[in-house]
Parts: sequence; structure tokens; C-alpha cells
Amino acid sequence: MNDAASAAGARLLIRQYQPADRDDIAEVCLRTAASGGDATGVYSDDRLMPEVFALPYLDYDPSLAFVVTNGHRVVGYVLGVADTRDFVDWWRREWAPGFAARHPHPGPPTASRPAFDETQLIEAGTRPERMLVAELDDYPAHLHIDLLPEAQGQGLGRRLIDVLRAALRGRGVPGVHLGIDPENTGARAFYERLGFVELPSSTEAAPLFGIATA
Ligand SMILES: CC(C)(COP(=O)(O)OP(=O)(O)OC[C@H]1O[C@@H](n2cnc3c(N)ncnc32)[C@H](O)[C@@H]1OP(=O)(O)O)[C@@H](O)C(=O)NCCC(=O)NCCS
Repeated sequence: MNDAASAAGARLLIRQYQPADRDDIAEVCLRTAASGGDATGVYSDDRLMPEVFALPYLDYDPSLAFVVTNGHRVVGYVLGVADTRDFVDWWRREWAPGFAARHPHPGPPTASRPAFDETQLIEAGTRPERMLVAELDDYPAHLHIDLLPEAQGQGLGRRLIDVLRAALRGRGVPGVHLGIDPENTGARAFYERLGFVELPSSTEAAPLFGIATA
């Protein structure tokens, strides 16, 4: 698929993920990982965030990854999995062992106060069961979406969600959910505007939202 938009002189395109996009996606993830802001240098290893929230999605099901490009590089993405239970099994088998070997110990505490401390982040990489939320029967899919500042506020987030929902609908998946960093009030406003609803097992510390695909 190919979907074009013009914004501030840059022609921004939404298209399917390609393997050459991988490093750009890791960078977009890092630069939006501090409650929506730049997390570069926050953790002892800049690969930690992408290795938990972006790269495994590309390996597991690249057909549910869509990117925004400016013709030179990726400036945003949405990454989805259709069946979170199967993804958890895959993660335990295929992703967790390598992750644990690459990140055997949390690094020293950082001066800033990130949403996840490094110990939590390493646990997130080795304990995929954290993704088994109570509402999986109605919302079996989940997603991550991030846009660099230059691509925000132009309707691209809405369009990426539309593209992913349509792809999931085409596979017969009834709903998609996502977790939000409680500090990320902008993201919460975005999801509410798009019609996502807060799910019963959502908590103040771990907000959880979902939307039907049709
Ligand atoms: C959150 C994010 C994905 C939204 O994408 P976006 O392209 O900026 O949002 P859009 O321009 O598509 O906005 C869609 C609608 O949401 C509303 N919206 C978006 N951000 C909003 C905000 N911060 N506050 C209130 N409303 C907001 C828009 O007004 C728009 O409403 P409309 O279509 O009725 O006019 C994007 O800003 C982003 O990647 N931010 C940094 C990373 C991040 O926080 N990711 C989410 C992690 S859970």
C-alpha cells in the first residue's frame, strides 16, 4: 500500500515496512520513548527501548508494520501483532534468550526519571507474560505507534491507526489494544479522540485502551 501526504514542504508517505527501515525505526522508538519525548542517553544502552517496544515486532510479523517516510528516512511507524497470546509464546522462545544475553544486568541509575527504570525495562524484555491483559478475547491484537516531532500533528497518527485497523480487520481480528505511559497525556488525548475506550483492567499506573477494528 502507498498513501501520500504533503506537509510543511516535505512529502510524507505511509507505506509497508521494509527491512532497510529497521535502524530508523529503532531511532524513532528511542527518540519518542521518554513519555513521548527523546530518551537518547537515558538508559545505559540506547538499544534497550527499541529491543522491547519495536524490534521484536518487526521480526515477528513485518506485514503488520507500516512506516511514514519523508523520502530519505523513516519518521514514524505503527507496529502491530494480531494475536498477543501467540506473540508472547514466540517472544519467550525466540526473543527473550537473545535479549537476556545482550542485557544481563541493568545499568547504573540515570540522573533523569524515566517512565521505566532500567530494571523494569530488562524485566519487560524477559517476561513477555506482562502482555497477557485480561481483555485479549475481545482485543487480541496490540500496537505501538510513534512519530518524530516533525511528523506529528498532521493527521498521520490517525491514518496509521486506520491502516493497521484495516489490516487487522482483513484478518478477522475483532479488536486492538495498547498500553500508555501514564505521564503521556498527549497520547491519551490522541487515543480518546480516535474513539479508543479505557478497558476494565486499566489502572492509573498502567492505562489500557482498546478499539474494535470494524
Ligand atoms: C501520539 C501520536 C502518535 C499522535 O499522532 P499525530 O499524528 O500527532 O496525531 P494526529 O495529527 O493524527 O491527530 C489525530 C487527532 O488526535 C488529536 N490529538 C493528537 N494529539 C493530541 C494531543 N496531544 N492532545 C489533544 N488531541 C490530540 C488531534 O487533534 C486529531 O484530532 P482531529 O483528527 O479530530 O483533528 C504522535 O503525536 C506521537 O507519536 N507522539 C510521540 C510518541 C508517542 O507519544 N507515542 C504514543 C505512545 S503510547
